Amino acid sequence: MSRIPSRVLITGAAGSLGRMLRARFAGSFDLLRLADVAPMAPAGKGEEVVPCDLGDEATVAAICKDIDAIVHLGGQATEAPWSVVHKANILGAIHLWEGALKGGVERVLFASSNHAVGLWRRTDVLNHTAPARPDGRYGLSKAFGEDIAQLYAYKHGIRAFCMRIGSCFPKPADHRMLSTWMSYDDCERLIRTGLGADYIYEIVYGISRNTRAFWDNANAYRLGYDPKDDAETYADEVAGKMIGNPIADAFQGGGFVTPEFVGDPSRIP
Ligand SMILES: NC(=O)c1ccc[n+]([C@@H]2O[C@H](COP(=O)([O-])OP(=O)(O)OC[C@H]3O[C@@H](n4cnc5c(N)ncnc54)[C@H](O)[C@@H]3O)[C@@H](O)[C@H]2O)c1
Repeated sequence: MSRIPSRVLITGAAGSLGRMLRARFAGSFDLLRLADVAPMAPAGKGEEVVPCDLGDEATVAAICKDIDAIVHLGGQATEAPWSVVHKANILGAIHLWEGALKGGVERVLFASSNHAVGLWRRTDVLNHTAPARPDGRYGLSKAFGEDIAQLYAYKHGIRAFCMRIGSCFPKPADHRMLSTWMSYDDCERLIRTGLGADYIYEIVYGISRNTRAFWDNANAYRLGYDPKDDAETYADEVAGKMIGNPIADAFQGGGFVTPEFVGDPSRIP
């Protein structure tokens, strides 16, 4: 049986999605603990604001105490050198799930990314069973996050809701986002679904109900996600805004695919 958590931790609370959710979650829980390495606004009613570097094991263990659910948004959110990705996203994930285990946390909602599957072609329609095919170090760190979530779910019983987020912004900025966009309202809906649904380990896609979606999101709908927005509303605004590089435009990961890409993309099945 599943119950709505009353004590929630958000990592990455100083970031774009963290600030957006903080505002929307005000008053929703007995406690909203907000953690980030970057400065955050002072705590309001029902909030705790806690500085935390995900690379620091002891601090991460401390923020996981007396928490029912973690919304794990914190980390390096774009491509970066190995040292940065390793500390924030690999070591950070290890510290987070170890902290969750020691702290008795019931569930972790993990902000994975479409870049975990970015080297699939745009002609492939992926669902939640699609194996990872990362398009860079950042994407690989998200695939690792999904795997550590699965280990701690199946082996230790910590529920995991891995959201392969597409592009979560106020509105789509280019043609690719007609497929990958998730509105802020739908992001809130998806996170509330993950906080309340009954599951042990799931992968879902973090997108609105887009007409041109790359992904079949039936698994999220099965769990109760009911997105209301469709990027198609903005089709005229982004018409013609292609990346303009044949490799970026052929693969789901778009502009994350091309940097450092070597040789002929036809080797990729
Ligand atoms: N916004 C999107 O469209 C999108 C798409 C796919 C995945 N995601 C994922 O969702 C999450 C949130 O995205 P966002 O757009 O808000 O990113 P963001 O960069 O605005 O926020 C990430 C936050 O993590 C914090 N952080 C980085 N390294 C840290 C560390 N070592 N210790 C503690 N905190 C650290 C940063 O200070 C930042 O506030 C990220 O994990 C990102 O990878 C976002």
